[in-house]
Amino acid sequence: MSGMTPYLQTNQQRIERDIEHIASLGATGTSADGRTSFTYSLQDLKVRKYLLDIFEELGLSVFIDGVGNIRARYAGSNPDASVVMSGSHVDSVRRGGKYDGVVGVIGALEAIRVMKENNITPSHPIEVVIFSEEEGSNFGSCCAGSKAMVGRYTFDDLNTLKNLSGQSMYNLAKNAGYDPDNMSRYVLNKGEVKAMIELHIEQSPMLHSVSMPIGVVEAIAGLRQIRVEVDGVPNHAGATPMNFRQDALLGAAHMISAVEEAVQTKGTESTVGTVGYIESEPNVSNIIPGKVVFSIDIRDVYQQPMNDVVEEVRKRFDEIAQRYNLTFSMTLLGEQEAVQLSQEVISSIEKSAQALGIPYKKMNSGAVHDAVLLCSVAEVGLIFVPSVDGRSHCPEEYTPYEDIKRGADLLLATLLDLAK
Ligand code: HGY
Ligand code: MN
Ligand code: MN
Repeated sequence: MSGMTPYLQTNQQRIERDIEHIASLGATGTSADGRTSFTYSLQDLKVRKYLLDIFEELGLSVFIDGVGNIRARYAGSNPDASVVMSGSHVDSVRRGGKYDGVVGVIGALEAIRVMKENNITPSHPIEVVIFSEEEGSNFGSCCAGSKAMVGRYTFDDLNTLKNLSGQSMYNLAKNAGYDPDNMSRYVLNKGEVKAMIELHIEQSPMLHSVSMPIGVVEAIAGLRQIRVEVDGVPNHAGATPMNFRQDALLGAAHMISAVEEAVQTKGTESTVGTVGYIESEPNVSNIIPGKVVFSIDIRDVYQQPMNDVVEEVRKRFDEIAQRYNLTFSMTLLGEQEAVQLSQEVISSIEKSAQALGIPYKKMNSGAVHDAVLLCSVAEVGLIFVPSVDGRSHCPEEYTPYEDIKRGADLLLATLLDLAK
């Protein structure tokens, strides 16, 4: 039959319906305010319910672990075969975009819907996976859910990770009805998962700037997330002479520019450093700040430059603290190694893209993803669809639905190849 598409197609309208609905559940005021849906929040629980209802209608068997990671299984013909997993996260940053993470969950869901509609049963079971707390918006540490899933987070870690109001991941998971006490029972074992493929927006301008529809990721940056506390002495802004001050915010300002200098002097062209969060106490115009807390986020696809930059930052902070008579502490909140992704999965994605006639570009990811954590127990791949103007983690984040559908088509073909 002429004109028949040579491959199975996902349904763009269904993809759009699901992503738009999930965006509406986390809407922060007007659309200009983006989407805020922190793990275990009321918005998050509504999104989870929406997806769990769809999984039930599809007859998937659902399994939720101790911190709320969701695994929805589409049975294969060989019940003993290891799982092929695909998914991402539905939690967001504050006032984020509607596509980050959600594209990967809906892409995986849509792939399974198309398999079911066409009565396709692969030999390996395929699971849609939704990881809790990928963004680290609550506790400051990215990929906390997937770290727990692969046993990187112990019971104590879940109690140590606390949000700004002092609530721990353990408590929030428990209050949401999950079972963090027994998280060790749910940890993935090697051999359980054959492969994990994540579909995600690129979150940088590489693809969009050259009108390339697909990125096949080879390496994902590692990261260090550090919390810095600077302590000085609060005092009268008018009556305290300059040489009698212990101004925590002035010291922090020099420290923040020292982060940028350390990246320039000790990093490589792929090293990045960001100070995204800062709070100053008592934050009143006529009081010399006594205490400042700020975040440092250092990333690179190579391990050593990250270590060198952190070392240089610590050295510079020592000098600055002495000059302004301050004390400071640096606490490592989260760290992830840079990872090279699986050649087996990369080849499967490439083979599928060639079969579908979809152009692609091999590249690295500066953003971290749950896929990184699954590398310790499975073969892992990551497919990117373009972000218009590279914008992400903001309400302006945008990827046209034609691009998302094309990414879902490629994901479907790759899943069928790996699960056959
Ligand atoms: O920060 C990241 O790279 C991810 O979006 N959590
Ligand atoms: Mn993401
Ligand atoms: Mn993100």
